[in-house]
Amino acid sequence: MALKNINPTTTNAWTALTNHFNDIKNIQIKDLDKDANRKEDFSLEFDDLLVDFSKNRVTKETISLLLDLANEVDLKDAIEKQFAGDVINVTEGREVLHTALRSTSDEPVLVDGKNVKPQIQAALRKIKSFSNKVISGKWKGYTGKSITDIVNIGIGGSDLGPDMVVEALKFYKNQLTPHFVSNVDGDHVSEIMKTLNPETTLFVIVSKTFTTQETITNAETLKNWFLKSATIFDIPKHFVAVSTNLEAVDSFGIDKSNVFPMWNWVGGRFSLWSGVGLSISLSVGFDNYKELLEGAEEMDLHFKNVDFDKNIPVILALLSIWYNNFYGAETEAVLPYTQYLSKLPDYLQQATMESNGKGVDRNGEKVTYQTGTIVWGSTGTNMQHAFMQLVHQGTKLIPADFIGYKESLYGLTDHHKKLMSNYYGQMDALAFGKTKEEVHLELKFSGDEDKIAKLLPFKVFEGNRPSNAILFDKLTPRSLGKLIALYEHKIYTQGILWNIYSYDQFGVELGKEMAKKLLNKS
Ligand code: F6P
Repeated sequence: MALKNINPTTTNAWTALTNHFNDIKNIQIKDLDKDANRKEDFSLEFDDLLVDFSKNRVTKETISLLLDLANEVDLKDAIEKQFAGDVINVTEGREVLHTALRSTSDEPVLVDGKNVKPQIQAALRKIKSFSNKVISGKWKGYTGKSITDIVNIGIGGSDLGPDMVVEALKFYKNQLTPHFVSNVDGDHVSEIMKTLNPETTLFVIVSKTFTTQETITNAETLKNWFLKSATIFDIPKHFVAVSTNLEAVDSFGIDKSNVFPMWNWVGGRFSLWSGVGLSISLSVGFDNYKELLEGAEEMDLHFKNVDFDKNIPVILALLSIWYNNFYGAETEAVLPYTQYLSKLPDYLQQATMESNGKGVDRNGEKVTYQTGTIVWGSTGTNMQHAFMQLVHQGTKLIPADFIGYKESLYGLTDHHKKLMSNYYGQMDALAFGKTKEEVHLELKFSGDEDKIAKLLPFKVFEGNRPSNAILFDKLTPRSLGKLIALYEHKIYTQGILWNIYSYDQFGVELGKEMAKKLLNKS
């Protein structure tokens, strides 16, 4: 059954939210924080995850009205439809089943009347056995040597997910050296190529369609480079593919047994849980990859089963709607306080902006309200010395997610204490700011009144800048799986509330067509 089709601005909740916004728009986080129960009332816990959303310009009434909005557009029904395998990607006529990829339940998920779970399990078994062979050194290259380097050739969803996760789980990595080639810029592939030995390199070509210009160009270049030292009969030992397009894979020269399946019911930007995750499994081992999937499944069950007022992805999505559609915030920052998550903002840009960057609603009509937030960010504490000036004192309202971990992985406690004091310090500074009086008091001891008066306006922090503290115990494959799934569900929730289709991406096509035309002319 199709998704419901409700313009959010026509709901009673929207009208109530608009009135409520007019009443509370100048509310100060500082004042809200005076309530001794604020933190407790505006925090959610789930296993090793704590989300504190108390530093937002919201009251209990705001949350309750936002929840009314979720109920009025029947978010529950949309969630059930996604998990059940309904064709919710209507414009492409597809199911959206990344959740099935990590489901360990025996409950069947039907696509065209056929349970897809056995195929998923078979693919996972294949990933496991292949990864084990390569990691243990049993898989030999054409001169009998074991594999030392893996090159993931893909772009967009066939690159960003695996690349981000491999970087995030670096601590859990084995002896293999992973590389990621994505850009059609020949300098990208050339830089990587010069570090490789064809005898010990495994190429993983990841392309759902196997027609993507960048990926096929890079794959051909690397194949030609490989064939300078080897023969076409050696290709099966060095080239594997992840794709739905078996014909194209075959004509590229890849052995059938070296193809890992992809399915049309998994969107590219939600595919790291499928064969697209092969580079992850090769880099950190199948057990860690499996744990990543298990963490994601835990978040899936939370999203599917927990009431919306306690549901982390739903609450984060609603807060984002509050700022986007009522306060007119254009962007959101994602700020992980761990260097391991340096690629998360890039990954979330595709997941969020390719999904919800839509200007037409599910009726096919132009929307009259803002959709898709712009996501950007970088790791703390580096970004404090880069763009945080603007977030603290600039003219724009930028809600921010601060992602942190109670424990570090190597246990340098002195570093971690400093890191986490910055994590909390930034959120406090954003929320509470510094008043004229406070600045005056500070300057009083260091200068004359004239100097103070001149300097004072520049040193004031207005504060009242919202943030969410997303805090895990530790960065593990499991907690990472949870974090990624959390954002996936936040994205879907927003798409439902905005009455748009989140799982197509026609907006990327026109530029590709133009480039093709220009290439043919040149
Ligand atoms: O950028 C458009 C897009 O279709 C993405 O959605 C996708 O992740 C990427 O290109 C790569 O596509 P493929 O896996 O088919 O090469």
